Amino acid sequence: MNIKDFSIERYFAKYEFTAKYLLSSSDCDGFPMQYVLDLASNEERKSWETLKLGYTETRGSLALRKAITQHYQHITADNILVSSPGEANFALMNVLLQKEDEVICMSPMYQSLYQVAISIGCKLVFWQAEKQNNQWYFDPSRLESLVTPKTKLIITNFPHNPTGYSPDAEDWDAIIGIARKNGIALFSDEMYRFLSHNSSNDTRSACDLYENAISLWGTAKTFGLAGLRLGWLTSRNTDILHKVEAFKDYLSICNNAPSEVLATIALNNQAKFVEPNIQKISKNLELFKSFCERNAYFLDFPLPNSGSTAFVQLKIKETAMEFAEKLVRDTGIMILPSETFDYGTKHTRIGFGRENFAEILGVFEQYIHR
Ligand SMILES: Cc1ncc(COP(=O)(O)O)c(C=O)c1O
Repeated sequence: MNIKDFSIERYFAKYEFTAKYLLSSSDCDGFPMQYVLDLASNEERKSWETLKLGYTETRGSLALRKAITQHYQHITADNILVSSPGEANFALMNVLLQKEDEVICMSPMYQSLYQVAISIGCKLVFWQAEKQNNQWYFDPSRLESLVTPKTKLIITNFPHNPTGYSPDAEDWDAIIGIARKNGIALFSDEMYRFLSHNSSNDTRSACDLYENAISLWGTAKTFGLAGLRLGWLTSRNTDILHKVEAFKDYLSICNNAPSEVLATIALNNQAKFVEPNIQKISKNLELFKSFCERNAYFLDFPLPNSGSTAFVQLKIKETAMEFAEKLVRDTGIMILPSETFDYGTKHTRIGFGRENFAEILGVFEQYIHR
């Protein structure tokens, strides 16, 4: 199989663990393991202390799948497959898609969500982000205009990485309606679910709204537990989940046992993770708003309404990649240029989930003034 490098991840590989400051990370700071363990019920603590490090159940432990069901309306333990998110995406695309299939996905978008389909030989059709009233927007009527009789799959990601856009209930119903009316499967990446800093966002999962939707969620973003490397596919179409489970036998086979216990505790205590994360994101967003007001000549900042990121335009002569490379060399600040999203050369992602955001912004401001 031939697959292009994952540009975002390659760029992070270059700087994430060497740059002094990370201004573009999409995850919130990782919680300490002890924070998770302190929330454990007696039974969960016992599971942790007596855990045996043998193989685990391919689709995920029953305790974890039960903890996951609480966050959906129509999902039972049989409608869940636990896996790392990247693996889930890779396996799902491989069981759903074949050469020549038409697939609609958003642009910009997290690369693996379209690159795997390209490597299978599918024809990709991009649903482009637009700017409206100083916000990014994905217009459902544009999506509808892209559907053809050959469309096999629609891929969405809300809250959206990188723009931080999420539809309201009316638009989300319209998107689901387009998939249903045309009999098209919907893959909904909901990795940033519940990181909502505006009450008009719709947090209903696609798998609860449409019987032919497959949703993806995980611990990395919403919970600040990226190091667990865990996520899950949820769908009322169990046939698809069974096929993904069989495909997984060629990949990891089963999940990491300690991570499953920690994820179960986190899912049973969701607010303890989501609330501090939203507080941090909201505080950093306000700081960034004032920064952009002071430096409007340098940046255009379409306001996000959800998630932990924004996608801003750099009003500079050089390319975003050239600027990013210079910035990290001169200051130790890593930003993620839009070239890594296959989205031109003038944007960068900003991440709001880090405690040292104010400090990084201070160094950044001094630099651009110089
Ligand atoms: C939209 C989206 N989907 C999936 C993932 C993968 O999640 P994980 O890092 O937990 O594998 C990411 C990570 O950045 C993401 O932004």
